[in-house]
Amino acid sequence: MIVLSPSLLAADLLFLGEELDSVVSAGLGDVHIDVMDGNFVPNISYGVNMAHAVRRHGQLKFDCHLMVAEPEKHVADFARSGPELITVHYEATHHLHRLVYAIKELGVQAGVSLNPATPVDVLKCIIHDLDAVLLMTVNPGFSGQKFIPSVLTKISAVRELALTHGRDIAVQIDGGITLETAKLCLAEGATHLVAGVSFFQSPDRRAFAASVLEAGKNRG
Ligand code: DX5
Ligand code: ZN
Repeated sequence: MIVLSPSLLAADLLFLGEELDSVVSAGLGDVHIDVMDGNFVPNISYGVNMAHAVRRHGQLKFDCHLMVAEPEKHVADFARSGPELITVHYEATHHLHRLVYAIKELGVQAGVSLNPATPVDVLKCIIHDLDAVLLMTVNPGFSGQKFIPSVLTKISAVRELALTHGRDIAVQIDGGITLETAKLCLAEGATHLVAGVSFFQSPDRRAFAASVLEAGKNRG
């Protein structure tokens, strides 16, 4: 069973409650919260208040994707909002091992994200401590960008690296996911897909979600 998480970056925040209701109506149970600081990435989105708002809605699990400089300063705040998973960027910290353990000690699952140009090899010495790896298939910062196909080979590389360490971890793919690119990622072993524009701008969100989940069931 794969997971499809709509990214709230593409939602209409004037109607946040309705947007979250539509995720539930589409048969999904998770949303993805993109936190951007205008420093690590060239855009500012929102902070921990968004995570608390989703928590108060009460019907969806959520993960927090921290695209911020010095993420170690913020993980405790985000952990208090009750996410399933906090994901930090390999490129954003000097002390990844310390940060991953800080997240786990807060009682939250820990994920590490790699930008498109960062090779999978950098995870060799930390993979056994991770609950998830998030591979960016766009350069982080904005929704609605074009999928970068050269990242596809990194998906199977992460799966293999994890299995070498006896770990069956989540492999999330984030950026430019459509039904077509979802299928490419699923064929490489993705377990979790994030979708911003393709979900929230779909004329039929439920049908879009069903088609992606069906593609997950049917992969070879
Ligand atoms: C990009 C974010 C993504 C983004 C995905 O920096 O991490 O989660 O919102 O949006 P789409 O699916 O529209 O590319
Ligand atoms: Zn994201």
